Amino acid sequence: MHFDTRAIHDGYDPSKNFGAVNPPINMSSTYSQSAPGKHQGYEYARSGNPTRAALEGVLASIENGTRAFAFSSGLGATDCVIKLLNAGDHVVVADDVYGGTFRIFDKTYKRFGLDFTFVDTTRPQNIEAAFTANTKMLFLESPSNPLLKITDIAAAAAVARKKGALTVVDNTFATPYLQNPLELGADVVLHSATKYLGGHSDVVLGVLVTKNDDLATKLAFNQNASGAVPGGLDCYLVHRGIKTLAVRMERACDNAEKVVTFLTEHPKVKQIYYPALIKHKNHEIARKQMKRFGAMISFEIKGSVADGVKVVSGRKIWTLGESLGGVESLLEHPASMTHASIPAETRKKIGLDDGLIRLSVGIEHAEDLIEDLVEGLDSF
Ligand SMILES: Cc1ncc(COP(=O)(O)O)c(C=O)c1O
Repeated sequence: MHFDTRAIHDGYDPSKNFGAVNPPINMSSTYSQSAPGKHQGYEYARSGNPTRAALEGVLASIENGTRAFAFSSGLGATDCVIKLLNAGDHVVVADDVYGGTFRIFDKTYKRFGLDFTFVDTTRPQNIEAAFTANTKMLFLESPSNPLLKITDIAAAAAVARKKGALTVVDNTFATPYLQNPLELGADVVLHSATKYLGGHSDVVLGVLVTKNDDLATKLAFNQNASGAVPGGLDCYLVHRGIKTLAVRMERACDNAEKVVTFLTEHPKVKQIYYPALIKHKNHEIARKQMKRFGAMISFEIKGSVADGVKVVSGRKIWTLGESLGGVESLLEHPASMTHASIPAETRKKIGLDDGLIRLSVGIEHAEDLIEDLVEGLDSF
């Protein structure tokens, strides 16, 4: 069955719910038992809840996995997957992962005895060189945030597999509609469903998906043991968002391509980061592993940090805000917002210019989006 159809129908059976076309929002924290241990599949809502089960069912389907796990945030999912490891283990991490991912690794899990090496994973030889005898996990994003770097997921996962380590891919930017890392050899896929999966900027939720039974058992244990689970309403909202993911992504990708064409021709734009561009370093890999090139764009202006602030401030259509992946277009300044927790020196080292502007292209009319950007670029 095609993705679009699975996204609408998988995970939930109306015939088991009075024919209700949408999964009921189940609010019970506990479930009655006819005798100790005898229940109808649910005992306590941290361990499982029917609304969450429906969401986890459709998530497993659209990522081509067998089991999915929902969390109260994307970072809750990251926290769960990193707990597969033990003190003394080493992790190779992409050097421009989301700032919050860097923070939990660097500030929290280092204290618990894990060791991290951050490398540019766009070159498989860097990954291999960073491996030590203790490396148990490779953690990457592709496309990455905010430089839209593309890692060859199949090549990276092959290196990790050869060394006996797991590969975890944060697929938030691509979404399961554009890319399925499990098909490329990843062991676990992670999402901040707060973004495209939810799609309407009204819910915070995280996801892990795998097709490895042993990992699924361990992740289910961690999910229940740590307890960062979402409530019924949040699960419902993400499930509803997934039903329109395919059409939203198509429209957002169309808009992104139009915005990139506009930026390419603008005299004040110095550099554009978008994997569809032939001159993008890993354009061919993006073409190979993604269905389209996504709706995230970053660009540098020929101007100062202050000029960048002028471009992003006071826009009529583009909302200045963190996050991404909603129907509304957002723009932001990574150095002072999403990536502020990465030290300035590290930001410089990884090529994150202080004047960089990141766009999350939504599904408004492209002409209105471009008109608003013209005004922004005219402001300095
Ligand atoms: C790529 C990526 N991964 C993970 C996260 C963390 O997700 P959440 O904010 O849902 O905890 C984010 C948040 O912005 C993100 O952009």
